[in-house]
Amino acid sequence: MSDWVEIAVRIPVAAQEAVSAWFLDRGATGVQEDYPGLFPGDGPVISGDPAEWGGDAPQNPAPDVVLTAWMPPPALPQTEGQALRTFLTELEAVVPGAGDAPIEANLLPEQDWNSQWKASWQPLPVGERFMVCPSWTPRPEAPGRVFLCLDPGMAFGTGTHFTTGSCLEFVEEVMTAATTPIDVLDVGTGSGILAVGALLLGAKSAHGLDMDPDAVVEALQNAERNEVQDRFTASAIPLNGREGSFGLVLANIMAQTILNLADPLTAVIAPGGYLVTSGVLQCHEDAIRASMESHGLVFDRARRDGTWVTTLFHRPA
Ligand SMILES: C[S@@+](CC[C@H](N)C(=O)[O-])C[C@H]1O[C@@H](n2cnc3c(N)ncnc32)[C@H](O)[C@@H]1O
Repeated sequence: MSDWVEIAVRIPVAAQEAVSAWFLDRGATGVQEDYPGLFPGDGPVISGDPAEWGGDAPQNPAPDVVLTAWMPPPALPQTEGQALRTFLTELEAVVPGAGDAPIEANLLPEQDWNSQWKASWQPLPVGERFMVCPSWTPRPEAPGRVFLCLDPGMAFGTGTHFTTGSCLEFVEEVMTAATTPIDVLDVGTGSGILAVGALLLGAKSAHGLDMDPDAVVEALQNAERNEVQDRFTASAIPLNGREGSFGLVLANIMAQTILNLADPLTAVIAPGGYLVTSGVLQCHEDAIRASMESHGLVFDRARRDGTWVTTLFHRPA
């Protein structure tokens, strides 16, 4: 038996810490929380004032939270469900309402998620000039296109998500219009796709920053795969505004993070240089625009898909 057990419970928020700890003590490999507003697609969480967004995730407005845990083999749904019920019954004395919390436990058939995902990602033309390709597939015929070959590993950035693809289109526009080679800063570089794309179109240098050290490693490897490693550097050091002066700054992060980083993000844009913001829900578009304009940037244009907006700004020369 190599199936895992997925077990989910809706509990009062006051029981969250105790139940998470219990799952982990029992051998869960991870515990996921879920509540209204947690995921960006759930709607607005900010008003435009960065001070109103104070943490890593929005506050839970609901009285309860759903916790989901994954138990490795040889766990069984019935055994896990019963053990959790016993624990919740004891917890009822401390957190009223915990005792009869609804539990759902199911077997998750073993799957090779990695190879399934790898099979589903196919070469993709982006904009007029890029052909984004998984590093493990043969290159298709693509006359006139520049191959951007990647293995993102666990990092974000394959070009299939609108936020990445639309950034690449702005990279292409800025690089095609540039009259002199420019330096690029890619904040939240993930797989390095945007920085590597800019280098393939002639950027003088690119520096990728990511809070996730694993993404930094992936980005460096992807620069090598595309033979632009001599012009690419990357680090996990937080953006501080003293990185230099760049002709193109890319920030496919999240609205809240962009607002929080507005000072250092705009400080590194050279006169006449560009900023691309992405990872922004359309309901946060005005907040981003107001913040960037208050930092002296000028709005150029935006790409939207009905959910996300990617925006190009520039700093007057
Ligand atoms: C949506 S991914 C974008 C990846 C890639 N640039 C793309 O366009 O597909 C956002 C990345 O930003 C990183 N990130 C989030 N907050 C950050 C911060 N404050 N500083 C640096 N990196 C951050 C995440 O680790 C993640 O790799």
